[in-house]
Amino acid sequence: MNPSRRVLRLYPGPTEECALEGLYLEHPLDHGDDSGRPFVYTNFISSLDGRIAVEDPRHGGHSVPGTIINDRDWRLFQELAARADALLVSARFLRDLATGKAQDVLPVSRDPAYGDLHEWRARQGLPPQPAVVVLTRSLDPSLAELCEGYERPVYFAVGAEVDRTALARVEAAGVRVITAGRGESVEGAMLVDALAGEGMSRLYSIAGPWVLDTLLRNGVLHRLYLTHFHRLLGGRSFDTMLEGDALDPPSSFEPRALYYDPRADDGVGQFFTVYDILAGA
Ligand SMILES: NC(=O)c1ccc[n+]([C@@H]2O[C@H](COP(=O)([O-])OP(=O)(O)OC[C@H]3O[C@@H](n4cnc5c(N)ncnc54)[C@H](OP(=O)(O)O)[C@@H]3O)[C@@H](O)[C@H]2O)c1
Repeated sequence: MNPSRRVLRLYPGPTEECALEGLYLEHPLDHGDDSGRPFVYTNFISSLDGRIAVEDPRHGGHSVPGTIINDRDWRLFQELAARADALLVSARFLRDLATGKAQDVLPVSRDPAYGDLHEWRARQGLPPQPAVVVLTRSLDPSLAELCEGYERPVYFAVGAEVDRTALARVEAAGVRVITAGRGESVEGAMLVDALAGEGMSRLYSIAGPWVLDTLLRNGVLHRLYLTHFHRLLGGRSFDTMLEGDALDPPSSFEPRALYYDPRADDGVGQFFTVYDILAGA
């Protein structure tokens, strides 16, 4: 095997070299209970000083820092998407796709480099692409119209207090709307239950800090895949992984795996960490 495609597993021991490809494709994805509830997971890449997004001088607003993005983490991101029944995304992500600001199209990428992931889905009997579930408060019908070309089921998830005219226009564009909240916002538990009702058992959030807050506040998240890129970035305007009011109680995690990837970008490395939420902590 090409040594540059290897990473070092540090935990659980003993330390062992492993192939980068397949690392997250084969990782067990189950919560081990018989509740029938979907397994919910997310992932982030962060600088050592906790930045997941910084000012984007080219497009305005924030985006993932170009100084930490790298192909090796991207491979694992695609592997996690390959395993999902549905991707949870924010309306902001769709807006960025429309304006060309988004990092890439929705996974699983059609780039030939990821052809094995499409074959893997086919072998599992999964549809070619995971469904997309867009969390939104603003419910902009023009975003729904953009989804017409996506070759996968698309759902918009909203709270009950939503503009009824916008809702009718979204549905007219062929998008299913799920009401999963009592007020203006989507609530994690209602969303997961609704998607379980659609027959989905693996939900992958590729959204940011507000959606993470939504999933943690209702205790529906099971796993966090977190890449720590070994750079400090500084800067005054940035996002961290989590937004919103302080969690009370805080969410506690236990490490499930830790991999060292020494060759991510220009000789700088990264840790791939996998954390399971501690139920009842
Ligand atoms: N480094 C990384 O790994 C990583 C990963 C993900 C994202 N990011 C970055 O983080 C930044 C923020 O990402 P993001 O906008 O995707 O994520 P976000 O902050 O989780 O989501 C924000 C948007 O999602 C909708 N939303 C969130 N929670 C909702 C709820 N409970 N109910 C209804 N709607 C809800 C709202 O849409 P409306 O505006 O329609 O109301 C809101 O504006 C971006 O710069 C992104 O690039 C980085």
